[in-house]
Amino acid sequence: MNRSKQPESTGSRIVALPGDGVGPEVMTAGLEVLAVVDEIFGLELSVESRPFGGAALDQWGSPLPQETLDACRAADAVMMGAIGGPRWDNVETELRPESGLLRLRSKLGLFCNLRPVATHPALARFSPLRESRLENVDMVLVRELTGGIYFGDKRRVGDEAVDVCSYTRAEIERITHKAAALARSRRGKLTLVDKANVLETSRLWREVVGAVVAADYPDLEYETLLVDAAAMHLLSRPADFDVMLTENLFGDILSDEASMLCGSMGLLPSASLADGTFGLYEPIHGSAPDIAGRNLANPCGMLLSIALMLRHSLGREDAAQAVEHAVSGCWQAGILTRELDPAGPGTNEFAMKVCELIETNADEHSLLSVAGG
Ligand code: IPM
Ligand code: MG
Repeated sequence: MNRSKQPESTGSRIVALPGDGVGPEVMTAGLEVLAVVDEIFGLELSVESRPFGGAALDQWGSPLPQETLDACRAADAVMMGAIGGPRWDNVETELRPESGLLRLRSKLGLFCNLRPVATHPALARFSPLRESRLENVDMVLVRELTGGIYFGDKRRVGDEAVDVCSYTRAEIERITHKAAALARSRRGKLTLVDKANVLETSRLWREVVGAVVAADYPDLEYETLLVDAAAMHLLSRPADFDVMLTENLFGDILSDEASMLCGSMGLLPSASLADGTFGLYEPIHGSAPDIAGRNLANPCGMLLSIALMLRHSLGREDAAQAVEHAVSGCWQAGILTRELDPAGPGTNEFAMKVCELIETNADEHSLLSVAGG
């Protein structure tokens, strides 16, 4: 794949895929914040939007037009809003917006999906869980994203339907290295979630992950949990987890469950990474067609995904932290979007508050460095 930069471009190339439902709104909010960050940190980004999902299907006959795929391949990073909706529920499988996303993940080799889940005291009251359980919750779910039952053979034979789940040693090894290295950079704990008492694929996961950890990461605290127990422990002792590694389908389910620890689906970001620095960044929420077009969507998942992009694909920890601090600064100040506070700002207004805070913090920072130096 050719992901090299064009000779004339000095900064990074970003492709934006707004998609469907609330996707375009959270994308607009995200691009406003990204423009401010670009300006302050001198990133010299070039951003181009491309059709994707149901919107692309309606206009171009495919949820993932070739031109969109080519643009993603030529970029340094991709931002996605959300895709899908009831409008496309009855189109054939291959043309569903979700198929476009799965194909995109697979074609771009985005095998490693990071879903960080950290609670914030200002949001604890919105979680269905008791506040005492939410203290110090700070984990990353590492979900394998291009294998397993999502990508195995699917068929119908008469009244029978079949979905095949398969994993290779190599697929498990490469994501284990990602998860273990991440655990080492955090609190040093790795939890493998599987169903090794029933599934052959899970028994391979247990064997391979155990061997990789023993050989290369003996310093980690390593444990395994069956997925049904993990679903329970995520609610009963969420603060005990640091990095949770799991296969595609279990990761899909557990990440929605984990989002409830934070108070709202709209808050959580994700990064889908390939080898190297390339990645696709999207909020974990869906297209929420019921609130689409009304400036009601929570842009935090998108904004925090941008922070992940700045960190992982663009190597700008400083800019990533500026976005994260501004988002949590808003929460701290009681500025919350409408699903949490009916009197709060809309999607766009929240993004504007984040922009203001990034600017204020940057000014203070430069004043401090003038005073200090
Ligand atoms: C997610 C979503 C997707 C998935 C859908 C939209 C195909 O639920 O990113 O978690 O199942 O992976
Ligand atoms: Mg999901």
